[in-house]
Amino acid sequence: MKFFIDTAEIEEIKYLSKLGLVDGVTTNPSLIYKSGKDFKTVIKEISDLVDGPISAEVTSTVSNEMIDQGIELSKIAKNIVVKVPLTADGLKACKELSLQNIKVNVTLCFSSSQALLAGKLGAAYISPFIGRLDDIGTSGLNLIKEIVSIYNNYKKNITTQVLAASIRSPLQVSQVAMVGAHVATIPPKIITQMIKHPLTDTGLDAFMNDWNKTGQKF
Ligand code: E4P
Repeated sequence: MKFFIDTAEIEEIKYLSKLGLVDGVTTNPSLIYKSGKDFKTVIKEISDLVDGPISAEVTSTVSNEMIDQGIELSKIAKNIVVKVPLTADGLKACKELSLQNIKVNVTLCFSSSQALLAGKLGAAYISPFIGRLDDIGTSGLNLIKEIVSIYNNYKKNITTQVLAASIRSPLQVSQVAMVGAHVATIPPKIITQMIKHPLTDTGLDAFMNDWNKTGQKF
């Protein structure tokens, strides 16, 4: 499974890239707001750091404007993926941009029937928001299972990758990997939590203590 990082914070991207854990980056208008930076400037900065796909979201809700914005965003760097919302206008923009060989990530997906539409219209990625579904008492993981299974039934026609989004815990990352999501977009703090385990820390402390007791030097 590929790891995308869900952030517009340059320092976080730099740190995780050095660990070799960044296959791509996703952003959205809320993450851009949080970064406090100019939208196109920060997208350019990210694309200078990461070779993999960088999702940049359109800011219009009208298809013609989404298409124009998508074309403009795609010119920032060759690895830009244009993010459009899963609305009728967003799907129209998805089809048009995909026909122009611009990769599209269809975002804000909350049902498998929505995902089927994005697959039919040539999206490169579908982003089901699993944390937000869990928040309202619905299983986000079941949604990933359903979409993976539907896309697998039509492998010859649907090449859309399932990008599990709105991830809130290390457990969700393992769970979406177990059911075959192609990508998970993960907030940096969750990656840090994935690395840590108390038994690793206490085990390492014991090994280092015993090593020091040997009196040897490496
Ligand atoms: C995905 O591309 C979105 O940016 C993100 O995963 C949304 O996560 P949230 O529900 O924590 O805002």
